[in-house]
This record gives sequence, structure tokens and C-alpha cells, in this order.
Amino acid sequence: MIFSQVVAFSAILNLFCIATIASSSCQPNTWLNLTSLPSPRQEHTTVAIKDETIAVIGGITSNTFTTTDLMQLYDVASDTWRTGSPVPYRVNHPNAAVVGGEIYLLGGLIDGPGTSNGSINFVASGKCYKYIPTSDTWVQLEAMPSGTERGSAVIGVRGEMVYLAGGMSVLQNTYQDSLTTVTAFNTTSGKWQRLPPAAANIPHGRQHAVGSVLGDVFYVLGGRWFGQMNVRGTVFELNLKNQSAGWRTSLGHMLVPRGGLCGDVIGSTYYTFGGEGNPNSLSGVFNETEAFDVSTQRWTELMPMAVPRHGTHAAAIGNRVYIPGGGLQQDGKPVVTNGSVLFSNPSAHFDVYCVEI
Ligand SMILES: *[C@@H]1O[C@H](CO)[C@@H](O)[C@H](O)[C@H]1NC(C)=O
Ligand SMILES: *[C@@H]1O[C@H](CO)[C@@H](O)[C@H](O)[C@H]1NC(C)=O
Ligand SMILES: *[C@@H]1O[C@H](CO)[C@@H](O)[C@H](O)[C@H]1NC(C)=O
Ligand SMILES: *[C@@H]1O[C@H](CO)[C@@H](O)[C@H](O)[C@H]1NC(C)=O
Ligand SMILES: *[C@@H]1O[C@H](CO)[C@@H](O)[C@H](O)[C@H]1NC(C)=O
Ligand SMILES: *[C@@H]1O[C@H](CO)[C@@H](O)[C@H](O)[C@H]1NC(C)=O
Repeated sequence: MIFSQVVAFSAILNLFCIATIASSSCQPNTWLNLTSLPSPRQEHTTVAIKDETIAVIGGITSNTFTTTDLMQLYDVASDTWRTGSPVPYRVNHPNAAVVGGEIYLLGGLIDGPGTSNGSINFVASGKCYKYIPTSDTWVQLEAMPSGTERGSAVIGVRGEMVYLAGGMSVLQNTYQDSLTTVTAFNTTSGKWQRLPPAAANIPHGRQHAVGSVLGDVFYVLGGRWFGQMNVRGTVFELNLKNQSAGWRTSLGHMLVPRGGLCGDVIGSTYYTFGGEGNPNSLSGVFNETEAFDVSTQRWTELMPMAVPRHGTHAAAIGNRVYIPGGGLQQDGKPVVTNGSVLFSNPSAHFDVYCVEI
């Protein structure tokens, strides 16, 4: 009797909680906490599947820079996490996109020789897989063409095509590169395709940048050039309907140049958040929220991140931008946290930025 009362009471409590989450107001230009990731994480990627699920893929899961094959899935309606089939390889800085409700995981960085206990030698992998949510399975795809393997690229999707701009092929404690390479994967043919020469390289090397396709134009925003402190505020753009016209640089420069930032699109606006390489904060992390309106090519400053982070990816659904995990301090920078010196600080924090529509 007592048991069934307890069950009934907790069922009512559950209903109440779910109703509260579903209807919890997402006031414009504010932050809202969600159920944290099951474990701290950074240098993963984040994609939304059918506006129902958010997938968090790969990354590093401890402050000794351990690369993971973890695949975690968030159910938007119930505000709960579950674990999916592991990624077929341990990968950080993965490149991923969703086309037709399936995830295309296209390369990334993996542990190279000598990677252990905070000593980093991440190198490029060209391995590609498709994740099929209905069966929770991974299927191998054609690998990235030799010489184009990389992680931390900017991803743009237009129809059946996934475009990758820039990225990096090596990330070590004291050296990292920065690529101009642009390549395209055709999800119909399952093949990598060449772009015309004028479109095959962005104007300057970038990694840890953000961007997307808005309309017919592929944008590459911010990022960095060989090293965390070399943050950039440029906007590169390519008309995908006339690729032979090549890349151009917009006059709309970011207000605060940032690398290791995250972002996504709502309407005709690209929202950017956080980043690392900030000389003006103890943690080295940026708190900026800045929006780029492609119709005016102008940037606007919005409410800073409530929990500033870098090394994560964002996924927009409806008028919300979801940001799972990320680093609370710049990697490699010694910061005393809770009495001990840490050189990275991955977080399980999960929140949304609410956009005015
Ligand atoms: C959101 O989470 C952060 C980090 O745990 C915490 O500091 C903050 O108080 C939370 N905000 C609310 C409104 O609960
Ligand atoms: C890992 O590195 C830390 C910091 O340099 C050191 O204190 C610890 O003993 C190392 N652990 C192993 C297993 O080598
Ligand atoms: C993608 O591949 C299909 C099948 O080979 C082809 O018909 C289509 O034209 C390709 N798409 C692009 C944008 O090149
Ligand atoms: C494509 O771009 C080139 C170079 O800017 C221009 O000459 C050409 O008219 C454009 N083609 C179309 C179809 O817009
Ligand atoms: C954002 O970070 C800057 C330092 O980069 C700091 O001066 C400012 O107070 C922060 N803003 C908020 C709202 O925390
Ligand atoms: C701080 O350290 C204490 C003792 O090691 C530990 O119990 C606690 O969970 C730590 N807190 C955080 C936020 O890491």
C-alpha cells in the first residue's frame, strides 16, 4: 500500500517534472540549464537528428586528454541522456553532419605515437562512417582521399552534399597546423568529390572555426591559425551555386575574434558562443555570444555564456541552441581548480541559449 502510494506519488512528480521542462520558458537572449551530460567531455562534435535527438560524438573525457569512442544521445522531449553504439574508432575533433536523418562522421583526430597522460600528439584520421539512428549501427564509408585527412573542419550541408572547409592534421602540446583544404562528400554516391580550383581552398588556414550553409552560401567564421592565441575574426564565403567564382572575404568582421568557439544557425542568423585563447580572462576562455546576420553581414553582441566554454559544438533546434559539455579553461594553461593544478577542465554542463524569433 505504502509502496503503491510512493509509486503513484513519484509518477505524478515525474509528470510534473517533464511538463515543467517542456513548458519551461525559454526567454529570448537568456540561458537555461538542462540535464548534464553523464560525464565531462570536450573536443567532441554535436549534431541534431530530426529535431528530436542531439548526438554527442567522440572527444576527450578527462584532464589527461584521453580520446573517447563515446556516443551519447539526448532526447529533447524528456531531457534525458542515453548511450549509443560506440564510435568505431576513438576520435577527437571529429567532423560530422546530418543528412536524411543519418549522421556522417567524416574523419577527425586520433591519438598518434607518444600520446599519454597529458602529452598530446593527435594526428589526422581519414576514416568515415555513417550512423543509422533507427538501428543504432555504424556503417563504414569511403575514406577521405589521401592528403585531405583532417579534424576540426567547418561543416556545411547543402542537399545531398557535405562540404568540409579548413581543419587541422596535427595537434601537439607545442605545435598545431592550420589548413585551407576544402573537400566535399556526396551522400548519394558515397564518394568524395573535387571542387573547382577557385573553391578548393579557403583564403587562409583555419581550424577550430565555425560555419554553415545559409541559403546557397557556405560561411566559415572565426577560428584560429597555427596556435590557440592566434584567434581570427574573418568571415569567408563561397556561393555553392557558382563555385568557380571562388571564396571571398566579407567586410563583416567578428566583434571579438575567437577560436575554439561553437555555434549554429537559426533563420538567417549564425549564433556563435565562447572559445579559447582569451588573454583577458584567467581561464583563457571567452564568454562572448555574438550573432552574424547574413542579410546585413553585421555582428551583434548578445548575452554572454552563463558558463563560458570552448571545445564543444552547438546544435540548434527550434529557437534554441543546445551546447553540451566543453572545456572550462584553455587547454594547456595551468589553472588551480579545487586545490589542484589542472591543464584542462572538461565539463558535463549542458545548457541552451534561447533566441528571439
Ligand atoms: C546553471 O548551472 C550552473 C553550473 O552548474 C550553475 O552555476 C547555475 O547556478 C545554474 N543556473 C541555474 C539557474 O540553476
Ligand atoms: C601523469 O602526469 C601527472 C602530471 O605531470 C603526474 O603527476 C602523474 O604521476 C602522471 N601519471 C602517470 C601514470 O604517469
Ligand atoms: C552526387 O552523386 C550522384 C550519384 O552519382 C549524382 O547524380 C549527383 O549529381 C552528385 N551530386 C553533386 C552535387 O555532384
Ligand atoms: C559565376 O561567377 C563568375 C565569376 O565571378 C561570373 O563571371 C559568372 O557570371 C557567375 N555565374 C553565374 C551563373 O552567376
Ligand atoms: C566576460 O568576460 C570578460 C573577460 O573576457 C569579463 O570582463 C566580463 O566581465 C565577462 N562578462 C560576464 C557577464 O561574465
Ligand atoms: C573537489 O575535491 C574534493 C576532494 O577531492 C572532491 O570530493 C570534489 O568532488 C571536488 N569538486 C569538484 C567540483 O571537482
